[in-house]
Amino acid sequence: MSRADNQPDWDTLAEKFDLWAPHIAPVGEALLAALNAQPGDHILDLASGTGEPALTLAKQQPRVTITGTDAAAGMVQVAERKAREQSLDNLRFQTMAAEALSFPDNHFDHLSCRFGVMLFADPEAGLQQMLRVLKPGGRCALAVWDTLKGMTGVYWTQQVFKDRIPESEQPAVDKIVSMSDGVLEGLLEKVGFSAIETQLNCFAYHFADFEAYWQNSVDSAIMKQQLDALPPGKLDEVKCAFAELAQPYQTDAGLVIPHEYRLVVAIK
Ligand SMILES: C[S@@+](CC[C@H](N)C(=O)[O-])C[C@H]1O[C@@H](n2cnc3c(N)ncnc32)[C@H](O)[C@@H]1O
Repeated sequence: MSRADNQPDWDTLAEKFDLWAPHIAPVGEALLAALNAQPGDHILDLASGTGEPALTLAKQQPRVTITGTDAAAGMVQVAERKAREQSLDNLRFQTMAAEALSFPDNHFDHLSCRFGVMLFADPEAGLQQMLRVLKPGGRCALAVWDTLKGMTGVYWTQQVFKDRIPESEQPAVDKIVSMSDGVLEGLLEKVGFSAIETQLNCFAYHFADFEAYWQNSVDSAIMKQQLDALPPGKLDEVKCAFAELAQPYQTDAGLVIPHEYRLVVAIK
């Protein structure tokens, strides 16, 4: 898939993405509760990445059938391997952009998408496709990041890199926050969804200390493009800048980094 907007290279980091999985698990739980799948339902999980929340739903509800899709083939391969390893036969994954779903009209009972819509090349086209493939009365449950102010880790990334690397290498912050402040709800209404409801939720990344957070960030390659763009010898300076921003979030229980997101549910 194109990386013109400086999203992380999902294919390359596919094997490392799950370093974040325990930290974003609470969002998956909230999303699945809102989805409220019932035995016999066929669910579409869009931008499933390495398989969440599709895998969790498949384990929790063996009588629900799930199709997970993602634009990045590398992420889909990891998701497929996990499904095989866990002997889950009620879900399958396919490489497919959200804007070009190959499913028939009125095909799925409900659909979910965790932290995908704001990254779509064309979110409105993706939402139109969601509406098309849902059965009448079907529910979509979508988690998107909210404003930069509430996304502590992304805010740090923006602050640290803004004056240190060229504009062309900056993280895709505008894209990440592009569905905040009611934008997603407006688009859902525009394409024809109704009964749109939003919860503004908060969760936190928990790390033993700053070192553990830094190691996770480097190992997961989520900032690879930005770190690669640094002038030689600047890595320690960048690490210190992150450590300074993280300092207020150090607690007796370790480093606790709060994040806000929007959980939006709408009906076809
Ligand atoms: C932050 S990851 C989320 C993955 C997974 N849903 C999770 O929460 O663990 C975002 C995913 O969106 C996918 N993505 C980005 N643009 C897409 C598009 N236009 N269509 C489908 N997937 C897309 C990426 O490939 C990536 O796997």
